Amino acid sequence: MLVETVHAPSLHYSNAMDTSALYNIGYGLYVLTTRHDGIDNGCIVNTVMQVTSTPLQIVVSVNKGNYTHELIKASGVFNVSMLTTETPMFVFEHFGFQSGRTTNKFATCEAEHRAVNEVLYIPKYTNAYLACRVSQSIDFGTHTMFVAEVLDAQVLSDKPSVTYDYYQRHIKPKPEINYDNAKNGKRCWVCKVCGYVYEGDELPDDFECPLCKHGKEEFEEIIVETQNVASPKNDNNTKIHETHCIAPLQNNCAMKQINLTENIFYVGVNDRRSERFENHMDLPNGVSYNSYLIVDEKVALIDPVEAGFIEEYLFKVKNVLQGRKVDYLIINHDEPDHSSSIAAVIREWPEIQIVGNAKTFAPLEAFYGPIENKKVVAEGETLSLGKHTLQFFMVPMVHWPESMVTYEQSSNIVFSNDAFGGFGALDGGIFDDQVNLAFYEDDMRRYYANIVGKVAMQALKAIEKLGGLEINMIAPSHGLVWRTNLAWVLGKYTQWSKQESEEGVVIVYGSLHGNTGVMADIVARGAAEAGIKEVKVYDIAKTEVSFIMSDIWKYKGVIIGACAHYGSMFPNMTLLTHEINEFKPKDKVYGLFGGMSWSGGGVKTLAKCAEEGKWNLVADSVEVKGAPIRVEDWDKLYNLGKAVAQAVKG
Ligand code: FEO
Repeated sequence: MLVETVHAPSLHYSNAMDTSALYNIGYGLYVLTTRHDGIDNGCIVNTVMQVTSTPLQIVVSVNKGNYTHELIKASGVFNVSMLTTETPMFVFEHFGFQSGRTTNKFATCEAEHRAVNEVLYIPKYTNAYLACRVSQSIDFGTHTMFVAEVLDAQVLSDKPSVTYDYYQRHIKPKPEINYDNAKNGKRCWVCKVCGYVYEGDELPDDFECPLCKHGKEEFEEIIVETQNVASPKNDNNTKIHETHCIAPLQNNCAMKQINLTENIFYVGVNDRRSERFENHMDLPNGVSYNSYLIVDEKVALIDPVEAGFIEEYLFKVKNVLQGRKVDYLIINHDEPDHSSSIAAVIREWPEIQIVGNAKTFAPLEAFYGPIENKKVVAEGETLSLGKHTLQFFMVPMVHWPESMVTYEQSSNIVFSNDAFGGFGALDGGIFDDQVNLAFYEDDMRRYYANIVGKVAMQALKAIEKLGGLEINMIAPSHGLVWRTNLAWVLGKYTQWSKQESEEGVVIVYGSLHGNTGVMADIVARGAAEAGIKEVKVYDIAKTEVSFIMSDIWKYKGVIIGACAHYGSMFPNMTLLTHEINEFKPKDKVYGLFGGMSWSGGGVKTLAKCAEEGKWNLVADSVEVKGAPIRVEDWDKLYNLGKAVAQAVKG
């Protein structure tokens, strides 16, 4: 072989070079094996190329640090086994993430498969092998390029060869970032192979990942914002959320699909790990983030899911699609419990069109940065997918200004966004006829009261707007899919939206040392003896406000008691009175009571809230000095409960 020097013109290197462009070279992935002095070894390489047919020659480039390189230098023989798309990750880990200097990679081989050069080849997860003898080598500094004659070549299967790109997209698990070494606002470098995080202003050129042994080229810079959220510097600051979900190693994993119709699928996820919804409403039963997939000539996804569930979500979507891509992502609602995985969805299907209305994109881009492939739809506009046609209706403020619902005309399914949703993970039952509705109603009403209740009038208008459509199924963004009990759920939503209260009294108290709590019991006796069977007593320090608001929404009577605290009222009560005055539940009758120590303040502050919120007080407020141990105080409290009960009964 003659190596000639070419005299090229003198030019400067670009200052803006993006070396990731080299990943787009159409590399394959191979196991390179050799044998010297009775030692078998192999490693993963991606640079194998046929250079001549006569004689039949190939070249392979090998890192000088590899033990395989050392053995080939000594033996002058090697084999190339060509990996297929079915190769599981452990094969790459076995040959690529450990050194033959410390591990015998063939110690557990079930059977020896040796080629004519006595070198092992890999019979499984491969589609061919080449047995070679080195004829020349060229030193490229960090690597040696071996030129070799092909002594034998055999086809082993008809499976497609794996490319480097396919490996990156479908085989290599997304690393779970280990934040142990990262602190808020610090410059860090994350290993793209294993997720190890190195904190420091610069990553040394000779840095080697202590976990997976990959070099600097496999690290990318991140800036850690919180313990669990990071922004990749080179990706428009789009956030990566911590995920704990399934990320299958093999692309042939599969699960059963959940069908709404033959070609419309449920692909949502359950969240049982978040303690609170919107970080302030307790989730004892979890919550679901619903998403739907329509497969036709074009494929549409209706709303994605919360970003922490992206691996599980993409697995479910791809499980249905079997290699097809998604053409449209319909954004019914910008709120991040749905939209926060939009960047990951776009990364997965870069040509996807994001469909929203005139109000969708400004908030969406404020959250996630510029979106290139937008499609703006107007009220009543349609989008054909083939046999399916989507039609869009605006329902502003149910729950955000940009909220819309999507109606599929051939199946008469309305994808209703937050409307008709509910708290509670979907515990096996996805559809309304698969669960006990009485059990589900409380979680649904709590969701309504705290999410939609503030905009009850708009919810009512949305219901009226949908009333003109033929509806076979209601598919909301949280909770059950309604296909059987449509009248029941429409009735409940209409009742809650019209704020038609039921007979009952909610008594809420805040007490430092228990005396106002004893008063609450006396008030409750008065209400019960006046004939109210639904009397609910809550300690504001124990029960999270969303549960109380849910019952306030339901029942007509509301009696609130607070002891004094530094001239004002028991502090936890402030949130509840704020919520009542914010949500302004209608058709209520109120009463007030509380304990007085020092110069009081509890009842006085409640009275101020009542005045601001224009509460309908139906009895004189009761303020008790110290504890309710005097008969006259007992009578006043009892009569307060009785008076509110009588007003409830009308
Ligand atoms: Fe489920 Fe308003 O977000």
